[in-house]
Amino acid sequence: MLVHIKEIVGKAQKGHYAVGAFNIHNLESVLGVAQAAVRAGSPAIIQVSEGAIKYMGIKPITHIVSTVAKNVAAGVPIALHLDHGNSFDAVFECIKAGFSSVHIDASSLPLDENIALTKSVVEIARSKNVWVQGEVGAIMGGHGQVSGRLEHIPVAKVSEVIRFVEETRVDTIAAAVGTAHGVFDNEDIRMDLLKEIKQKTKIPFVLHGGSGVDAQKIKESIKHGVNIINIGTEIKLAFSETLKKTCAENPNETDPRNLLRPTIKAVEEAVYAQMRLFGSCGRYGEGDVET
Ligand code: G3H
Ligand code: ZN
Repeated sequence: MLVHIKEIVGKAQKGHYAVGAFNIHNLESVLGVAQAAVRAGSPAIIQVSEGAIKYMGIKPITHIVSTVAKNVAAGVPIALHLDHGNSFDAVFECIKAGFSSVHIDASSLPLDENIALTKSVVEIARSKNVWVQGEVGAIMGGHGQVSGRLEHIPVAKVSEVIRFVEETRVDTIAAAVGTAHGVFDNEDIRMDLLKEIKQKTKIPFVLHGGSGVDAQKIKESIKHGVNIINIGTEIKLAFSETLKKTCAENPNETDPRNLLRPTIKAVEEAVYAQMRLFGSCGRYGEGDVET
């Protein structure tokens, strides 16, 4: 069922687990996330980037996600969120379309400008009952990148994160704490920063760049108060590697459904594994959780 993100995140805060926010790119990845949520009895946040909106169109995305949530995932809650919105206009389009949460990512601007733009988004979003995620300290890398080590992974200044949260009154906060977008060998989670941010801001913390991060570190970060974990690259990899393999093994196949069907299952498996790691399984019904 489609719900407001606050219902999912509020329950995760009380239960001390994290909810996965999964980047989708097409119908197959939406179905894969929904199937994993049903199988796990888990909540899920389905998130789209501006790139995914350009590819599918805002109305098709909104309708596909709400229809799949209602019909495929009737027993578990699914929320729709904009990931890394870069401008007021991009965010406003999603608020109008019915998203319950939007991310305004002005982290590449000087702090004062980031605060000013984020505040303007919070003002309009509040009046429409939409949650806003803000970001301090840009997160390095790129969605879908898988390549060795990043030369340097910068982290946010805790004092700036605290000032940002106090002045903007965002509902959730993302900050650079050692992870990167993509899969890199030297990704880390600075627990000291996370603990301090969490103690001083209290609001739900969103961990970006969840793909490729050591599982034990993810578990520890949840203990320190991470409530939402973004997963993008692992979904891209599950989809594209499966599609390439299926095409290579079936060069004469002409039915798109036969080529694409295995990608749905591959996304489901990747998402299900993350849900188990995040502790969100069995929170809505028992699900079919492997032990
Ligand atoms: O905003 C999306 C995420 O932060 C995804 O990061 O591609 O490393 O999973 P990832
Ligand atoms: Zn991100």
